Amino acid sequence: MDEKVLSQDAVSFKYDFDALLNYRDGELGAFHVGYFDSTTTSYRAALENLVRKAAEPLKNSSCFKIIDIGCGCGYPSRQLQSFLNASVIGVDFSIKSIEIANKIHAAEVEKGNLTFLQMNAYNLMFQENSFDGVFAIESLFHMDKLRAIQEMYRVLRIGGVISICDYYAKPGWKGLIQEGFSEVISLEDFLQIFRQCGFKNIQFSDWTEHVKPSYQYLRNRKMISHVQKDFEEFCENAGKNSGYTHIFAEK
Ligand SMILES: C[S@@+](CC[C@H](N)C(=O)[O-])C[C@H]1O[C@@H](n2cnc3c(N)ncnc32)[C@H](O)[C@@H]1O
Repeated sequence: MDEKVLSQDAVSFKYDFDALLNYRDGELGAFHVGYFDSTTTSYRAALENLVRKAAEPLKNSSCFKIIDIGCGCGYPSRQLQSFLNASVIGVDFSIKSIEIANKIHAAEVEKGNLTFLQMNAYNLMFQENSFDGVFAIESLFHMDKLRAIQEMYRVLRIGGVISICDYYAKPGWKGLIQEGFSEVISLEDFLQIFRQCGFKNIQFSDWTEHVKPSYQYLRNRKMISHVQKDFEEFCENAGKNSGYTHIFAEK
């Protein structure tokens, strides 16, 4: 195995721990940055803002059945379901994250329009053309992009929309293996993989400056001790040697 890449099992295990350490009853269960603009008054509002903005391309395209890949504890899936009044299936390979997602969002899960399933993004248990929309917030940075985006393309219907938010590498990026930031690539390479997979009308926005205030909150996040130092370094350098993008496209 390539030494630069944290194994799939290790990433899944890390998120089992992250989910257990960070989730408390009453907390949101969001494992992503927030989007700040001149009207944002709290971190909580910024978290909601990020999902709402990422959901816009799906809203404009009448997406009724959406898959959220690498859903974690389910905060983005739940927001998406409520913003779009859509049916959302969240999938993640961390069993603890899926257990917690089912617990936090039990009321909506019971109604049947929100579902959480343990699944690997490389091998989605759905047929081709199953979804109107594919959504992924900060999960692709753990994955082999070509493999994961090909699989996203496969399950999306013709004319369906993909909307993702993630980190990208800038010059000077050296990777953060322990924290699982081992698959961060340049924005140009990211866009090239979307093209290679067959997506069209590919659009992107750079949100690096909008998400930057998040790191003062995130650096206090509890995590397994050996990844803490890596993560603090990442927060310190965020925006300098890494950026944050929103990419959306059509099949
Ligand atoms: C930073 S968290 C983001 C979680 C969620 N999207 C959110 O915004 O709250 C990344 C998630 O991707 C999941 N993940 C990473 N690689 C995966 C894979 N190959 N298959 C499924 N899930 C994966 C992790 O388990 C983790 O829950």
